[in-house]
Formats: sequence, C-alpha cells, structure tokens
Amino acid sequence: MSQGTNTREDISDIIKKWKKVEGSLVMMLHSVQSRLGYVPRWAAMEISKETGIALAKIYEVLTFYSFFKLTKPAKYQINVCIGTACYLKGAPELLKAIEKYTGLKDGQTSEDGKFSVMGLRCIGCCGLAPVISVNGKIHGQLKAGDIKTILDEATKGE
Ligand code: FES
Repeated sequence: MSQGTNTREDISDIIKKWKKVEGSLVMMLHSVQSRLGYVPRWAAMEISKETGIALAKIYEVLTFYSFFKLTKPAKYQINVCIGTACYLKGAPELLKAIEKYTGLKDGQTSEDGKFSVMGLRCIGCCGLAPVISVNGKIHGQLKAGDIKTILDEATKGE
C-alpha cells in the first residue's frame, strides 16, 4: 500500500479524530491498522508527536496486543490450519506443498512481500479439514496437489 500524501492525510485525520477522546490510543491504533493493514513506525511517530504520548508507551501497547501488526502484511497471506483435525487429515503435506510453491516455511514472509505463510490453530471449519485460507478465503478438503492450482488462481494476472 502506498505511503503517499493521501495515506498520510488519512492517518492525520484519524489521529485528529481520536485525540479529542481521552484514553483512545488503542482505538486510534486500531483505526490506523484497519486503514493500512499494519501500524508503521512513521504512523506511531506521528501519533506520538500529535498526542504527546511517548513513542515507547505506544510501542508498549502495540506489542502487548497480539492483533497489532508492526510490519506490512504480505500481498498473499496464506494461513494453514494446523489444528488437530486438519493436522491428522494432511496439514503437514499442505505445508510442504506451500513451501515448494513459495519457498517459505510456517511463520515466514518472502522478502519481496508477496507471500506469507502462517500455521494457525483450529479456524473453526473442521468439517472441511484440511483447510487453508488465502487472504481470508477458505479452501477445504484439500490434497497437496490442490495447492498449486489454488495459488496459481489467487495470483493470476501477476
Ligand atoms: S482443526 Fe482445522 S479447522 Fe478445525
């Protein structure tokens, strides 16, 4: 996502809106993350400058809550369920096939920011095990051989 003028203006608007509300740091950070997909350092610095809250305090909050992301999410976020049902039905083979396609193991992001691979605990679709999601879209009852088709489809036009 661009960090151009509009983005900076949006973030500045978010800060202006929330800084009037006492104790709104977490809400402000949520708004930034929903706009950008993460909370970049420049936005944290802007918040600190505008609100007077120390940067260290802002990072304390950002690192306390695991839902805040400090790095830009990959363009294609591949989540692999490694909960019990999915694991027993072949999640390890799916991870291997994903590694073959992307070069990435569980927990890694490619240097170009194109792919990230993350193993998650049960995502609530056990009836469809084994399950992966690509940018939130669920694919179930998979075999390792399906991975290439899914990722080719998700990235087509690249
Ligand atoms: S264990 Fe994978 S969805 Fe429940």
